[in-house]
Amino acid sequence: MARVETSSSRPYHLVIFGASGFTGQFVVEEVARTASEGPKGNLKWAVAGRSKQKLEKVLEQAAAELSKPELRSEVDIIVADVEEPDSLAAMCKQAVIVLNCVGPYRFFGEQMIKACVENGAHHIDISGEPQFLEATQLNYDSQAADKGVYIIGSCGFDSIPADLGVLFTRDQFKGTLTTVESFLTVNSGDDGGCIHDGTWQSAVYGFADSSKLQSLRRRFNHKPLPTVGSKIKRRGNLFFSNEIQQYTVPFMGSDPSVVKRSQRFLVENQNAKPVQYGAYAGIGGIGNVAKMMFAGMIFWFLVKFSFGRDLLIKHPEFFSFGVFSKAGPTRKQMAGSSFQFAFYGEGYTEGQDPSQGKPNSKIRTLVKGPECAYVATPIAMVQAALTILNEPTALPETGGVYSPGAAFAKTTLTDRLNKHGIQFSVI
Ligand SMILES: NC(=O)c1ccc[n+]([C@@H]2O[C@H](COP(=O)([O-])OP(=O)(O)OC[C@H]3O[C@@H](n4cnc5c(N)ncnc54)[C@H](OP(=O)(O)O)[C@@H]3O)[C@@H](O)[C@H]2O)c1
Repeated sequence: MARVETSSSRPYHLVIFGASGFTGQFVVEEVARTASEGPKGNLKWAVAGRSKQKLEKVLEQAAAELSKPELRSEVDIIVADVEEPDSLAAMCKQAVIVLNCVGPYRFFGEQMIKACVENGAHHIDISGEPQFLEATQLNYDSQAADKGVYIIGSCGFDSIPADLGVLFTRDQFKGTLTTVESFLTVNSGDDGGCIHDGTWQSAVYGFADSSKLQSLRRRFNHKPLPTVGSKIKRRGNLFFSNEIQQYTVPFMGSDPSVVKRSQRFLVENQNAKPVQYGAYAGIGGIGNVAKMMFAGMIFWFLVKFSFGRDLLIKHPEFFSFGVFSKAGPTRKQMAGSSFQFAFYGEGYTEGQDPSQGKPNSKIRTLVKGPECAYVATPIAMVQAALTILNEPTALPETGGVYSPGAAFAKTTLTDRLNKHGIQFSVI
């Protein structure tokens, strides 16, 4: 049986590993902001990483930003390096949950998963890398289950809004929901916006290695999920979406893979009916289409060769037309940005047999929130951790490697996110 020992002798409920990274610094601030939501209103936490000096700086900055000078003296620092397994083990032994912000996960993630499983710490990450997420499930699920440890990946913008958005849509639908399409739009304010280099690196190495994903998937030996109701229609690689009134492409991130894993878990473990899912992202007007095609062709060419990857990694801003940068967005840019997921669902009303005829009912829902990568991601990650600490009995009965939808389907995570600015609604 899995156990989440919130009152265990471990000194910290949460340890933020990679706290000195671009994303890590905002996770630190989010934990500091929400500490009163910990068990019995008291969250014990620490920051961790490979440089004590950098971690001290992060705490100083958070103290100044949040006007909480006590952070400098009250939050402990743990020095741990992915290259030093003993340091990871020592860190994991002190934590109920490790919030892992060290990426690209394909290079640094497995060492941390192993240390968490061996030392009984639950693990939450913000990976958007399907290969890492699925390999973790393949290689560590049964060990994590034996140890009663929850390993829950993709708990950031990738892929909590999409995964929980599909479940929210299903739960609001009166009858059997059979298909959902999501359309993502991202808005930058007057100051523009960008994504930090860390995510660019994850994408470059992820696309370079994408051919291995199919063989990894074959190793699961899964039976295909049954199709309930009419089969979802796949759209083209580029189309004008009437739903969001802009040019749109299939979403290239981890959402489809994560949603599918959640659906499989719910079908196999909770007797749920599977929802078919299609994920799309708006790219704007015709000018953006031209830019994207040009940048995409260069990207696909360069990513195949080691010299090309080096070039891409060295010059993120140039090759992404400014979408990614080494400096990351400013706080002002982040404050002006937001995202919106529009979900279009179809299904069969109560009493209608999904095996007969076309869907006879529709639903539209929205998940919207603040800037994706450094505001929404820390909120989602920290609320996922607080849910584990506060609602241990609503988690799956055994430990294991889970997607967010599988781990949190029976918890109040959606309500928690609603209270923190990531809003789910029926429209
Ligand atoms: N799901 C989402 O929507 C989302 C959003 C944002 C980010 N992310 C992901 O989060 C990850 C981090 O992104 P980022 O932009 O924050 O990257 P980053 O600024 O480069 O941060 C990487 C962190 O990893 C640490 N690190 C590197 N090697 C290490 C080692 N050997 N031992 C211990 N720590 C090590 C770095 O430590 P130092 O500070 O000492 O260099 C730093 O703290 C990426 O995989 C990115 O894709 C996901």
